Amino acid sequence: SLPEGIVNLADFEAHAQACMTPSAWAYLNGGAADEQVMRANRAAWDALKLWPRVLRDLCGGHTRTSMFGKTWPTPLLLAPIAYQRLAHPDGELASAYAAAAQGAGMILSAQASVPMEAVARAMRQEPTSGPLWFQLYWRDDRGFMAELLQRVQSAGFEALVLTVDAPVQGARDRERRAGFQLPDDVRAVNLGGRKKPLDLAPGQSALFDGLMPRAATWSEIDWLRERSPLPLLLKGLCHPEDAREAMRRGVSGLVVSNHGGRTLDALPSTAELLPLLREVVGPDLPLLVDGGIRRGSDVLKALCLGADAVLLGRPYVHALATAGALGVAQALRLLRDEFEIAMALVGCRDVGEAGAHLLWPSRI
Ligand code: FNR
Repeated sequence: SLPEGIVNLADFEAHAQACMTPSAWAYLNGGAADEQVMRANRAAWDALKLWPRVLRDLCGGHTRTSMFGKTWPTPLLLAPIAYQRLAHPDGELASAYAAAAQGAGMILSAQASVPMEAVARAMRQEPTSGPLWFQLYWRDDRGFMAELLQRVQSAGFEALVLTVDAPVQGARDRERRAGFQLPDDVRAVNLGGRKKPLDLAPGQSALFDGLMPRAATWSEIDWLRERSPLPLLLKGLCHPEDAREAMRRGVSGLVVSNHGGRTLDALPSTAELLPLLREVVGPDLPLLVDGGIRRGSDVLKALCLGADAVLLGRPYVHALATAGALGVAQALRLLRDEFEIAMALVGCRDVGEAGAHLLWPSRI
């Protein structure tokens, strides 16, 4: 059941910490190095101010959002977060039930700890559930990747999200200090097969001679697009030139992300990146954003900067640890309510009306 006194996303944090081992907590909540990017993401949303219009007729307003032929009630999706059974025995299954019940979408991590088919069934239970997408990490084994794509499509996932910002893990000091290791009963159950062990000669670099030759390059984007009819989004690219290249390669959308501050601790905040990337991709390419979204007003600010939808990360896993599916549903409910309040208070009738003119100071 839900503890008393939870009125916003931050209220889940203390409950979650009490429910998790210190090392699992460090894995979930930590970022890379000094955690500057993690803080910068939050600070950048806080620094933006809205500039309301009043006395507008908002009768018939709504927050419905459409992408890739699907319309759902609210522009929210759960970000792909690995190993959710660390937080709660029901793991990703509970998150899926909650997303479906609250009309949000879900991006299942490649490193989910629950079978993807069960998650897809949970999502399909509700007619108003949001999109269900599958996040991929590239693995240098095309047979393996081809089978995975087939399975993802058969299970009913509607798009692929290739995460491109983590060919190697960031140096996550907090997690390393806590000595985090995956417990035996939590595994990436959808990734069968075995990774090829690194075969290095003396003096070779594990990174440049071992891992990087196996990492994806732009030609793997072409391969993925040929191999799967599902829309392909890239998550975690930062540079306008990369956004242009992605468009030339026929990518269907981008998730503007710095991985919640878990990779390189020297990146711009996502609120800074978003308007830049919107400018280079033009008005039509679907853009999503994540990193430090904690309030309904943050969601509205993201839409005003050019996002079509927003991903929620750590807070829903705090809610999951606190109270399973019920907790995640409550977290989504709270965020959705705050978002609708913010929309009403700035005089915004639907997501299409959100724009830079509602941010202070604007040149109108
Ligand atoms: C992540 N993230 C992530 N991203 C991804 O593409 N695949 C993954 O498996 C994971 N796993 C993961 C685990 C944990 C514990 C965290 C905290 C994050 C990144 C995630 O999708 C998202 O980009 C950030 O979490 C968003 O930032 P906030 O909302 O957590 O600040």
